[in-house]
Amino acid sequence: MSLFSKSITLGKEFKISDEEFSQLRDFIYDKSGIYIADNRKYLLENRLANRIKLLNLKSFGEYYYYLQYDPRKQQELNKLFEAVTTNETSFYRNPPQLKIFQDKVLPEVLDAIKSKGPKTLRIWSAGCSTGEEPYTLGIILHEVLKSEIGQWNIRITANDLSEAVLLSARRGVYTEYSLRTTPREIVSRYFTGEDGKYRIVPEVKQLISFGQINLSDKAQCKRVERSHVVFCRNVIIYFDDEVKKRVISSFYDNLLAGGYLFIGHSESLHNITRAFRPIHHPGAIIYRKEA
Ligand SMILES: C[S@@+](CC[C@H](N)C(=O)[O-])C[C@H]1O[C@@H](n2cnc3c(N)ncnc32)[C@H](O)[C@@H]1O
Repeated sequence: MSLFSKSITLGKEFKISDEEFSQLRDFIYDKSGIYIADNRKYLLENRLANRIKLLNLKSFGEYYYYLQYDPRKQQELNKLFEAVTTNETSFYRNPPQLKIFQDKVLPEVLDAIKSKGPKTLRIWSAGCSTGEEPYTLGIILHEVLKSEIGQWNIRITANDLSEAVLLSARRGVYTEYSLRTTPREIVSRYFTGEDGKYRIVPEVKQLISFGQINLSDKAQCKRVERSHVVFCRNVIIYFDDEVKKRVISSFYDNLLAGGYLFIGHSESLHNITRAFRPIHHPGAIIYRKEA
């Protein structure tokens, strides 16, 4: 049998019925807030066929049963998250937005903290994928604070739903591709070479605390320490309006008065909330929780 005809046979073997699709779709929505539209049925079929094969199951129906009742269901839930999430990211993603953070928001937030008391700064990178976003924020903090950084108590809390991406984030080793929009002088200052790869330096790594969280679960979000700035870029795009509202309201509750929310370039809070004040900058809108 040729490779081509084999893949067709496998494709047929693991065809998802409409009923199996709605069961799995509702299950994923319930566990993660990720909404898979009817026209993306093929996505579940393609991404989960391999799991079914590896677990020696016969159908999507059996897989759904496994996810609910098997003793290894928690482990499989992580595999499911891994399969249904999109983890595309890079260092210095969306430079205009990061420039506003570096030149305007961060100096303002640092000055406000200094005028009040202890030099404690908290940032939340929600939906951090393989770590490029929180490490970029850590690099920017070093760039802005320079030698003064030692006098600050800083923590960047970085969360994701997928344990697989968190594992890679904790490792902190990247390929050239992840650094494609990063200035070369930043690469030479904050990475060490390792077998053709790039390892983030400990001075940046120690600022970040990684952990698993489901952002659509308000109770889990409540456990995150309150922040001066929240970054949640290119994440709410996967949620429907109901979940978007819940997640954004968790960020509102988490932010300290006067704090800032950064969302993705193609995302909007239109029809989601009016609680924040939008601030328009060239190339980016950012959101402030008024003091
Ligand atoms: C496209 S990546 C964005 C990464 C980074 N913020 C950026 O902009 O480059 C989206 C991330 O959101 C995570 N995610 C999706 N649903 C989530 C949820 N309910 N809770 C936490 N993270 C979630 C995915 O696992 C994925 O790593």
